[in-house]
Amino acid sequence: MSDPTRLPGPKIIAIANQKGGVGKTTTTINLGAALAATGQKVLVVDLDPQGNASTGLGIETEDREFTTYELLLEDVDLGDVIQQTNTERLSIIPATVDLSSADMELMSNEKRSFLLHDALRQHAMDAYEYDFILIDCPPSLNLLTVNAMVASHSVLVPLQSEFFALEGLSQLMLTIREVRQSANQDLRIEGIVLTMYDARNNLSQQVEADARDNLGDLVFSTVIPRNVRVSEAPSYAVPVLEYDPTSKGAVAYLQLAKELLSKNVRVAAQ
Ligand SMILES: Nc1ncnc2c1ncn2[C@@H]1O[C@H](COP(=O)(O)OP(=O)(O)OP(=O)(O)O)[C@@H](O)[C@H]1O
Ligand SMILES: [Mg+2]
Repeated sequence: MSDPTRLPGPKIIAIANQKGGVGKTTTTINLGAALAATGQKVLVVDLDPQGNASTGLGIETEDREFTTYELLLEDVDLGDVIQQTNTERLSIIPATVDLSSADMELMSNEKRSFLLHDALRQHAMDAYEYDFILIDCPPSLNLLTVNAMVASHSVLVPLQSEFFALEGLSQLMLTIREVRQSANQDLRIEGIVLTMYDARNNLSQQVEADARDNLGDLVFSTVIPRNVRVSEAPSYAVPVLEYDPTSKGAVAYLQLAKELLSKNVRVAAQ
């Protein structure tokens, strides 16, 4: 019996913002884990040479023999690049610093913007039956991020609740528009999620008000609070949902997963 809540094929989401340190990796790991906790089968693709998502999900550097670099630029078996994490239903294709040279190597490749798209849509992927693929992008609008946007159905944008948060969003939106025009006309914006929110801080409230005024429904109702348990979890190589399931951060990411699922089930039912 097929599950009516299951989407046809994986929903592919790029987690992107060219600003550094806004919570892209934290959101990829913890939204991924929260979706997995609700029964979804999730693949994280680490597309950042920093490899923070790989580290945060417990893949040691010496265990990253096959990575997104090989996925993009070499003929490699999915079984070799996909690794199970310590979290049930959550897998990852890890990254190493090698990926930083991929950006240059891609330049000379005719299919440079489509490499991730083609890799994720290869026939062998069907057997894994992923519900979601989350792509952790680097803090840049380079060819790696463009690959993520070309490969994805939508872009999820973490926005740090601090001064200048909205600056740079127009550049990101411009890139999304360019990708739509050139390579992926159906690319949508999944939503904008406020991260590191401090309810006692006027600035956080101001950023939230600005974001909701300017971007309306695009902003998720769920906000992710600043929570020390969220920042501690990666050093234990687990998502916050496992490190401290009752922490505010864990509860918020679970809520975000439910909000995302409710939007996507609606889309799937149309
Ligand atoms: N909700 C949160 N509460 C507390 N700390 C957080 C929270 N979200 C993220 N952080 C911390 O903020 C820092 C930046 O987060 P993260 O690495 O997820 O950002 P990023 O956008 O992926 O960064 P980069 O652009 O370098 O890839 C990290 O130290 C992380 O632990
Ligand atoms: Mg990151």
